[in-house]
Amino acid sequence: MDAHNWSMAVAGLRNAKHVVVFSGAGMSAESGIPTFRDADGFWQRFPPEKFATWNGLWRTALTDPHSVADFVLNVVDPIARAEVNPGHRAVAALERRAKTTVVTQNVDGLHQMAGSTDVLEIHGCLLEVIDRLTAQVVQRIDRSQLTQIADALRKYAGRQSSLVSLVAEVRNHYPLDGLGRHRPNLVLFGDAMAEPAWTKACEVVVQCDLFISVGTSGEVYPAAMLPDQAAEAGATVITVDPQPSGNCPLQGTAGTVLPKLLHDAFGDDR
Ligand code: OAD
Repeated sequence: MDAHNWSMAVAGLRNAKHVVVFSGAGMSAESGIPTFRDADGFWQRFPPEKFATWNGLWRTALTDPHSVADFVLNVVDPIARAEVNPGHRAVAALERRAKTTVVTQNVDGLHQMAGSTDVLEIHGCLLEVIDRLTAQVVQRIDRSQLTQIADALRKYAGRQSSLVSLVAEVRNHYPLDGLGRHRPNLVLFGDAMAEPAWTKACEVVVQCDLFISVGTSGEVYPAAMLPDQAAEAGATVITVDPQPSGNCPLQGTAGTVLPKLLHDAFGDDR
């Protein structure tokens, strides 16, 4: 760890009045949820051209429903079973020290589970069902329902069944209407960002004095603009990632670096 960066980060945290924590998939890696672009990442197994847009998913489902069932299983199952990790807990503990807003690209709800109260989910949330036209949340589901969906998909994988039976299987556990009006609150490639989270995120990044980017490759726009916007507005920007990247890199995992940072800044907040 670069000692200069570390002392800058500790001082930045100690003096911060408003912190924005900007998290990506790496934040939840230690909770057992795979990232997208690491060597064993999600998009290595499921090519984005087939799985990362709603149209692509439907096209793939018509010809190969089992591959879509496998994709959905691999999205749902780790999230259904995930527990918060020390990184999520450190972010939640930060609220005792400074106004803290979490801007997350993750759809797993783990920041809230750890106790963070101000969380902007700019790519949506798997635990919400929305109306496709109005984007209003029509229902929230819980993790036990996600586990049931994962179990149903696992059963489906063992049979020779059609797309229709796959949709019926999922609808037994997930409150999608029969008319195609509802879908999970997930932002896929080419979709508009989740609102009002995105508008609020754009506002807070130019108001904060410390911006901590954690576990994101910064490859997906417009989210990837946020660190530069914060820096241009005068915030100190630090980056937590096992790969040395971004402004003031603190190299290491979220679950090790964030608790240590809080400890060194405030003494007791492990
Ligand atoms: P990526 O998979 O692109 O990047 C994950 C980052 O986390 C990399 O920089 C890893 O080095 C880092 N990382 C891995 N393990 C870590 C750990 N234990 N602690 C901290 N960092 C770790 O994921 P995102 O940047 O989140 O969007 O991807 C952005 C968006 O691309 C996602 O929200 C999703 C995806 O396609 C959409 O689907 C719209």
